[in-house]
Amino acid sequence: MGKVQADANRSADTHLLSVPLPTDWGIDLYLKDESTHPTGSLKHRLARSLFLYALCNGWIRPGRPVIEASSGSTAVSEAYFARLIGVPFVAVMARGTVRAKVDLIEFHGGHCHLVNDPGEVYGTATRLAAETGGHYMDQFTYAERATDWRGNNNIAESIFRQLAAERHPVPAWIVATAGTGGTSATLARYVRYAQATTGICVADPENSAFFPSWRDSDPSATTDTGSRIEGIGRQRVEPSFVPGAIDRMMRVPDAASIAGVRVLERLLGRRAGASTGTGLWAAFRIIAEMRARHEHGSVVGLLCDPGERYLEKYYADDWLAAQSIDIGPYVQRIEHFLISGSLEPVNAPSPR
Ligand SMILES: Cc1ncc(COP(=O)(O)O)c(C=O)c1O
Repeated sequence: MGKVQADANRSADTHLLSVPLPTDWGIDLYLKDESTHPTGSLKHRLARSLFLYALCNGWIRPGRPVIEASSGSTAVSEAYFARLIGVPFVAVMARGTVRAKVDLIEFHGGHCHLVNDPGEVYGTATRLAAETGGHYMDQFTYAERATDWRGNNNIAESIFRQLAAERHPVPAWIVATAGTGGTSATLARYVRYAQATTGICVADPENSAFFPSWRDSDPSATTDTGSRIEGIGRQRVEPSFVPGAIDRMMRVPDAASIAGVRVLERLLGRRAGASTGTGLWAAFRIIAEMRARHEHGSVVGLLCDPGERYLEKYYADDWLAAQSIDIGPYVQRIEHFLISGSLEPVNAPSPR
């Protein structure tokens, strides 16, 4: 406990970046830059919370491994905390996970166990924990309850504090994405607890069960294929996803997610992973709607992890071609939106 607490005490808060939009729109867009944590993603917060929760519950034992099912970012952060407290760490991940995440897990002293089918990660992690006498951390179940959603400098409290001196200090919307669903649960619970008027929107990629499950009130929804947007979108509805707490969901085409981060690079001079683009596209849609209704206010999204991890995927034209993903029309729509405030397909007749 002492080592994890001391590590938190040495850490600084993440920045709330301003994304330039025409000032006269009266709408401000911010991105909470979670890529600046020591392990490079918003999963640093989650990993710390999961280790504290497991330590307080007596679930982690000296010399016994911590095992996790992950799409990679959580495992990178958990490998860091496992080494901090001196226990072995094993990440169970799908074979398609980018090489950069495997390298980072190994850099932090962890071991990667790759499985062919993304749906196998849960069962394999459970089995490895039983075989080794280790602890299966199970972020997909415990993310929402391990996080202190009332405050304690969680991501929501930090966003509200950092907005205090802005012209629209209470955001109209915060847009999140869902891997475990933990971040959206923390944001939504905090907003209610703080009695804020902010809406919470979850942007979901193609091939994810979260959106159809929320739309149809069907917790048993599943999909046949894994998400192409690493870190978010699951083939089943994870126990940590709290649909009743959120106000809105939006399905985002994968091409729009990738176009979003490509344009973001021009706007901020920074690369981000594609899940950042998923949220960004939803934020652009919300802003376009606000513009159409002549509303003013602020919208906050998340910069989840750095794009440098995904040079072989979202920043590689041959990968896009192999996936039959054409980002061109979406790049065009975003560039047009940044000037006009409309995200409609360029040259399409106006809906009004
Ligand atoms: C890159 C990235 N973005 C966003 C998320 C979504 O976060 P959460 O698990 O809190 O739903 C994840 C989760 O794994 C992620 O890895």
